[in-house]
Amino acid sequence: MSCFSCFSSKSSRRKRGPVPAAASHYQEAPVHAQPENPRRVSAEATNKKDESKEASNNIAAQTFTFRELASATKNFRQECLLGEGGFGRVYKGQLEKTGQIVAVKQLDRNGFQGNREFLVEVLMLSLLHHQNLVNLIGYCADGDQRLLVYEYMPLGSLEDHLLDLSSGQRPLDWFTRIKIGLGAAKGLEYLHDKANPPVIYRDLKSSNILLDREFNAKLSDFGLAKLGPVGDKTHVSSRVMGTYGYCAPEYQRTGQLTVKSDVYSFGVVLLELITGRRAIDTTRQTGEQNLVSWVSTFPLSCTTNLRFGAFKLV
Ligand SMILES: Nc1ncnc2c1ncn2[C@@H]1O[C@H](COP(=O)(O)OP(=O)(O)O)[C@@H](O)[C@H]1O
Ligand SMILES: [Mg+2]
Repeated sequence: MSCFSCFSSKSSRRKRGPVPAAASHYQEAPVHAQPENPRRVSAEATNKKDESKEASNNIAAQTFTFRELASATKNFRQECLLGEGGFGRVYKGQLEKTGQIVAVKQLDRNGFQGNREFLVEVLMLSLLHHQNLVNLIGYCADGDQRLLVYEYMPLGSLEDHLLDLSSGQRPLDWFTRIKIGLGAAKGLEYLHDKANPPVIYRDLKSSNILLDREFNAKLSDFGLAKLGPVGDKTHVSSRVMGTYGYCAPEYQRTGQLTVKSDVYSFGVVLLELITGRRAIDTTRQTGEQNLVSWVSTFPLSCTTNLRFGAFKLV
């Protein structure tokens, strides 16, 4: 991981990136301060029988040439476009060699922005394997091209089903909402409690919860993930990164990152699942634009205790 410090990471990206903070006394921790052997993440995380089976089934991420991925996505044709985020565009494609349907994320090439996130994502997803994390099939680092190849998730993201409903699209039923929340929670539990050292995801939001045909949830986008504190440490210091509206206020204020920062974001996603509203929605009237602030105007008996990621609806 120490090689990451060779790459700069600017983040003038849409949607996610540095989150404005009240204090400025913290810095992104030098990556070489992280535990030296990231392979422990998968080695020690596979204690349980079923998990070790999962891990042993995983082959290391494959490398692809740019030509292979251009041909898989019909030259990144508009009709293959699945979506666009802070990192770049995502296309549906079919690998020529195997016929497998995949999702190909092409990183924006503006001055190598996001190269660090690219490396973190490849490393993290090569080491972490769980049924509620998206599977990385491979990557391409041809010249200045950076692409990631994932398993294709046919139902897209939670955002597509909860917040971006087209006319005629039926809202998710309660059972499905709970199923998705549970899947996301299991993915997070694996990162926090089973991976060793723990992994802080830092970008939990509805657009990063992808869905398979049965609405099983898988967490995606590990470019901002960070190894959590080990030993006596209670937190890791970090430049504040994430997505506005999902970022824990204490992390935003102090730059001190703990697994609880993810739990806060999980609480925001739960609120989105319950209300069908966006974490931040500037089209709404003042007072209702920030979901957490709006919810906290309701009586205590029916509000969410986001600080602990738990909620009680009466
Ligand atoms: N593996 C995948 N399978 C299917 N669709 C995907 C996959 N990865 C991403 N997408 C789609 O592409 C969109 C953009 O993804 P991404 O670049 O991660 O940005 P963001 O998470 O900020 O929306 C997602 O919201 C989702 O709809
Ligand atoms: Mg995403």
